[in-house]
Amino acid sequence: MWPDHPFPVIFAHRGASAHAPENTLAAFELAAQQGADAIELDAKLSADGQVVVIHDTTVDRTTDGHGRVADLPLAALRELDAGSFFSQTFRGERIPTLDEVFAAVGKKVLINVELTNYKTPRDRLVGKVVELVERHALQARVIFSSFFPKNLSQAARLLPETPRGLLALPGVLGWWSRSFGFTFGAYQALHPHLSNVTPQQVGRVHRLGRRIHVWTVNAADDMRRLKSWGVDGIFTDDPQLALQALGRAE
Ligand code: G3P
Repeated sequence: MWPDHPFPVIFAHRGASAHAPENTLAAFELAAQQGADAIELDAKLSADGQVVVIHDTTVDRTTDGHGRVADLPLAALRELDAGSFFSQTFRGERIPTLDEVFAAVGKKVLINVELTNYKTPRDRLVGKVVELVERHALQARVIFSSFFPKNLSQAARLLPETPRGLLALPGVLGWWSRSFGFTFGAYQALHPHLSNVTPQQVGRVHRLGRRIHVWTVNAADDMRRLKSWGVDGIFTDDPQLALQALGRAE
């Protein structure tokens, strides 16, 4: 998987979200421009079944609207301002569709699509995301991730050639995922929280012949330490800082 990419792969978490509003085209374009290897984004369905990119279950925190994403049709979501909560400079940014993100940066960066139908687990998110990956021919440039193993097994059935990373919650809540769940599942990568990563954990994942991608790493010391342990990827809000910390800045 991704043999031609640097180590560790720098994933811009929700785009370059330290410098632009998370999960917007502005944040994804900025990440690509800054030299991130990859972006991470959160995919879920609108009320009318369109794949949109937003982290929270509701639009309340990151837009000027209110309500659950799953209750709002795409047209209503598109009316919202998804930039002003971050800074007036970004006023007028919209919640993007996954289709738009793939078109804008799919050929520039690798893309981690987190399947985030955590409150609507029986919806058609996985199939619709797979259709978009196929339509944009991004099978080799996408990795799926989710805290829900069921999403990843469904993705594996529909698109076996696209890799999957199992997300694990921090602490005791993520213990099963980091141990038995990961070991006995068909995953190419483990995505643990920074607080749960040790050199032993990195070694164990590598002995399985798989990768370890760690979230969310925003301090230069942590970036360097994880690299020295052999971690394969880091999610960061600040890809520019990561490039500097890891000695890859121009
Ligand atoms: O994908 C890594 C990390 O982003 C998972 O947590 O809450 O940011 O979706 P969250």
